[in-house]
Amino acid sequence: MVQGKDPGSGGVIFTRRNFLKGSGAAMAATAAVTQTAAQQPAAAATRVVSGAKEITLNVNGADHKVAVEPRTTLLEVLRDKLNLTGCKDLKDVYVDGADTVLVDGKATYAGVMLALQAEGKKIRTVESLRGDGQPDPVVTGFVKHDAMQCGFCTPGFVMAMRALLDKQPNPTLDEIREGLGGNICRCGTYDGITKCALELAKGGA
Ligand code: FES
Repeated sequence: MVQGKDPGSGGVIFTRRNFLKGSGAAMAATAAVTQTAAQQPAAAATRVVSGAKEITLNVNGADHKVAVEPRTTLLEVLRDKLNLTGCKDLKDVYVDGADTVLVDGKATYAGVMLALQAEGKKIRTVESLRGDGQPDPVVTGFVKHDAMQCGFCTPGFVMAMRALLDKQPNPTLDEIREGLGGNICRCGTYDGITKCALELAKGGA
């Protein structure tokens, strides 16, 4: 689940797991910034962000032209402009990994990737797994093993599992835990999710 610079380049390694470790500090920092902004409402209200640019994003096999600002995230484009709401906005309910999509086959947090960075890449959302009357085996596996409760985290887990199985069709239990390590389920449905992954691994889905 590595997203970041090549180890050989001497750069910093950014994994979805490392992101989770840093998220607590980030939330505290965000709260502090929010407090400061709240104390200066007039300044915030007059701030204008410009520099919108039209780009083409390939999502679920189709090209889409969208106008984005430099700060626009991939998640905002998917949900607000393309109406692909399977990937979740973590501002609504904080569940890590619920915004997972595939970018060139890698499980990626859409909420921390800028839309500009996604240009030229192949993006897949959970909507692509619906199939033509024949859902992806990961989707049917989640249903079979009752691997969800509230369901908020489920699209993210499904996409992370799809990425794992595409890369390693027969993963071990440790590889499953590693592959899904960037996703959190606050309802605690890990048992069903793991059973689903193990069954799909045996079947080579
Ligand atoms: Fe509710 Fe995972 S957060 S099913």
